[in-house]
Amino acid sequence: MLVVVLSGSGISAESGVSTFRDANGIWQRYRIEDVATPEAWHNNREGVLDFYNQRRKQLFDVAPNPGHEALVELEKTFEVQIITQNVDDLHERAGSKQVMHLHGELRKVRCERCSHKIYDWPGDLQVGDTCDLGHQLRPHIVWFGEEVPMIGPATELCRKADALIIVGTSMQVYPAAGLVHYAPAGIPVYYVDPDPAPVAIPGLRVVAEKAGTGLWKVVEELKKFKV
Ligand code: OAD
Repeated sequence: MLVVVLSGSGISAESGVSTFRDANGIWQRYRIEDVATPEAWHNNREGVLDFYNQRRKQLFDVAPNPGHEALVELEKTFEVQIITQNVDDLHERAGSKQVMHLHGELRKVRCERCSHKIYDWPGDLQVGDTCDLGHQLRPHIVWFGEEVPMIGPATELCRKADALIIVGTSMQVYPAAGLVHYAPAGIPVYYVDPDPAPVAIPGLRVVAEKAGTGLWKVVEELKKFKV
């Protein structure tokens, strides 16, 4: 049985990572068009790099929380595939084995020209840091207005799901938010979020709680499906 998890920034909130649209969320403090678009990169590389350097540094100060750990527990019983909108590495650090990052990864960078070449990058990235061919490196992040290269494989995973868990996302950003509609009709679909958005899925099981408690309840529920 394949359990597909669609996670958003809310799963990392209890680790101390900011969400985007909650009170004091990242998009309350920064304008998307100043830091997370190709135009911002063109106009103000230092500003964009500073934004992502700060967020990369923050990863050293945070650790996975019980929400991430619940999904690791789920792997003891089921095949679990996480599709995350998050650019942090907390799923991996918790121990989840199969994690697909839809919106990129903070700890990676890529050449701004030949963007297939991706490098691990634990420290700050500066203007003047270049790839092997001498081209400027950029954050390995999907910016607004850019394609989401992993959306095809993510869609295929959703089509194969036997159960789906949505956790910690406001479901406002597409194409990620549309993935849930590729899940086969009738499979159990859970949505764990203390402030869940309206999601038009018949029979949706909403757990209006934080991930750190709500996901453990879902894990217990799903274990009942194990034959
Ligand atoms: P949002 O900030 O839009 O939504 C965060 C969600 O997490 C909300 O629904 C909150 O209610 C919920 N939440 C808060 N605390 C929680 C907790 N302890 N447990 C569970 N849920 C909690 O963030 P995302 O939906 O992740 O994209 O945003 C999607 C995308 O928009 C991000 O990947 C990012 C952003 O712009 C890019 O940067 C491309």
